[in-house]
Amino acid sequence: MKLATETKARLLRAALGVGVRTKIMGIALGLTLLLGLGVSLLLQRAFVGVLREGLEEVGIDVAENAVSDGAEPLLTRNAFALQRVAESLYRSHRDVRYVVFRDSAGHVLAHTFAGTLPPDLQKSRDLPAGRPLRVEVLDSDEGPIHDITLGAPEAGAGSVQVGVTENWLRQRVRKMTCQLVAATLAMSLLGIGAAYVLTAVLTNPIRELTEVARAASEETFDRRAQVVAEDEIGELSRAFNFMCERLGRSREEIRRKERMRLQLLQKVITAQEDERKRVARELHDHTGQQLTTLAVELKALGNAATLTEAKERAQHLRGVVAQTLSAVRGLAFELRPSILDDLGLAAAIERHVEDYQRELGVPVDFEAVGPWSNPLPAEIETTLYRICQEALTNAARHAEPTHLSVLLTRRRDSAVAIVEDEGKGFDVDAALSDHEGERHLGLFGMRERAGLVGGKLTIESRLGRGTTVFVEIPCGASTSEEKT
Ligand SMILES: Nc1ncnc2c1ncn2[C@@H]1O[C@H](COP(=O)(O)OP(=O)(O)OP(=O)(O)O)[C@@H](O)[C@H]1O
Ligand SMILES: [Mg+2]
Repeated sequence: MKLATETKARLLRAALGVGVRTKIMGIALGLTLLLGLGVSLLLQRAFVGVLREGLEEVGIDVAENAVSDGAEPLLTRNAFALQRVAESLYRSHRDVRYVVFRDSAGHVLAHTFAGTLPPDLQKSRDLPAGRPLRVEVLDSDEGPIHDITLGAPEAGAGSVQVGVTENWLRQRVRKMTCQLVAATLAMSLLGIGAAYVLTAVLTNPIRELTEVARAASEETFDRRAQVVAEDEIGELSRAFNFMCERLGRSREEIRRKERMRLQLLQKVITAQEDERKRVARELHDHTGQQLTTLAVELKALGNAATLTEAKERAQHLRGVVAQTLSAVRGLAFELRPSILDDLGLAAAIERHVEDYQRELGVPVDFEAVGPWSNPLPAEIETTLYRICQEALTNAARHAEPTHLSVLLTRRRDSAVAIVEDEGKGFDVDAALSDHEGERHLGLFGMRERAGLVGGKLTIESRLGRGTTVFVEIPCGASTSEEKT
C-alpha cells in the first residue's frame, strides 16, 4: 500500500517535473488521439448499423423479386425455370451468396450452389406464424451471412431463401476505419505542430526571462529580455526589464555612496590626525614654551634677592599664566565648542554666526524659536551644529551671498535648523549625483550625519536666487522633558 503510494508520488513528480513544452505537447497529442479515436469508433459503429440495415433491405428486395419472378414456376413446380430465375438474381447482385427455392413442404426445387446444399441450409426455415418473412444471421467461412426466407404470396406455393454476405460491407467499413485513423493521425500531427509552435511562442520568452533573472541574481543587471509581442508575456518582459534597470541603477547608487562614505571616513580620519598634530604642535610650541618660561621664572623667583625683585617676578609670572590659560581655553574651544556643553546648541550656533559674520562681513540673521534651554541629546546637538557649520561654510565658499539667515526651531517632537543664503545657487541634483562628487563630500556628509540620528536633510536651490538647507531631526517629546 505504502509502496504504491510512493510509486504514485514519484510518477506524479516525474510528470510534473517535465518541461512546459513537453506537457503542452503531451496534452495536445493525448487529446487529439483520444478525440480522433473516439469519433472514429462512434462513426464506425453508426456506419456498420446503417450498412447492415441496407444489406438486409437488399436481401429482402432480392427475395421479393425471386418470389415475384418465380411465382409461376413455384406453382407448377417447374425446377428448370426456377433455376434460371435463381441464377439470374445470383449473378445480378454482388452481395447475394445464394438463392434457394423450396416447395410448400420444404423440399428444395432449385438453388445456386455448385454441388449439394451446405448442411446449414439443408433444413427448411419455418416462417413465423402469420408472417411471410424470416431474417437470421448465419455464421459461415467467409463471415456472417444474412439469411432471408420469404414465402410466396399464393398460399402453399413455397418459399425462397436468399443469403447476402457482409463481405463487401466489411471491406467498406475497413476502408472507412483506415481513412478515419489516417485522419486522426493527420490531426494529431497537426495538433503536435500547433502545440510546438504555441509552446515555442510561450516558452522561448520565459526561457529568456529565466536567463535574465539568473544574470540579475549574479548582480549582472545589463541583460534585457526581448519584448516580442504586446501580450501578457511581453508585459512581463517589459516589467522585468524595468526592474533590472532600476536594480542596476540602485546598485550603482549604493556603490557610489559606499565609495563616498569611504572617502568621508578617510577625510574624517585625516582631519582628526591633522587636528591632533596641530594640538600637539600648539602644546609643544606654545604651551610647552610658556610652561618652560614659568619653570625658569619660578626658579628665579626662588632665587630672588629682594622682595621687590620677587614681586616683579611674581607679576611677570601671573602674565605668563594668564596667557597660557587663554591659549589652552582657545585650544579646548576649537576642539569642541565648550559653549555647546555649557549653554546649549542655540547659543553655540549664535556664537558661530557672530564669528562668521565678523570674518565674512555679510549680514546674517539668527533666530532660535522654542525651548532651546532644554538640552537635546548630545549627538543631535553636535549633528545640528556641524550641519549649520557646513551650510555656512558652503555659502561662504561657493555662494558669494549678500545676506544669510539661520533659523532654529524646537518643536514638540523634533528640532529643525534652516540655513538660507541669498547667493548664486546651484543645481542640487547634479551636485549630489555628480560622479566627480567624490571629491566634494560636504553635502553628502550633511545628509549622512542627519540620517545617522534619524533625521532628514533637504536642500533647495535656484540659480541666482540662493540656497536653503533644511534639516529636521526627530527628538521625541520625552527627551526634552526628561532633561528639564
Ligand atoms: N550654498 C551654496 N551655494 C552655491 N553652491 C553650492 C552651495 N553649497 C554647495 N554648493 C555647490 O555644491 C558643490 C558640492 O558641495 P560640497 O559641500 O559637497 O563640496 P565642497 O564644498 O566643494 O567640498 P567639501 O567636501 O570640502 O565640502 C560645491 O562644489 C558647490 O559647487
Ligand atoms: Mg562643502
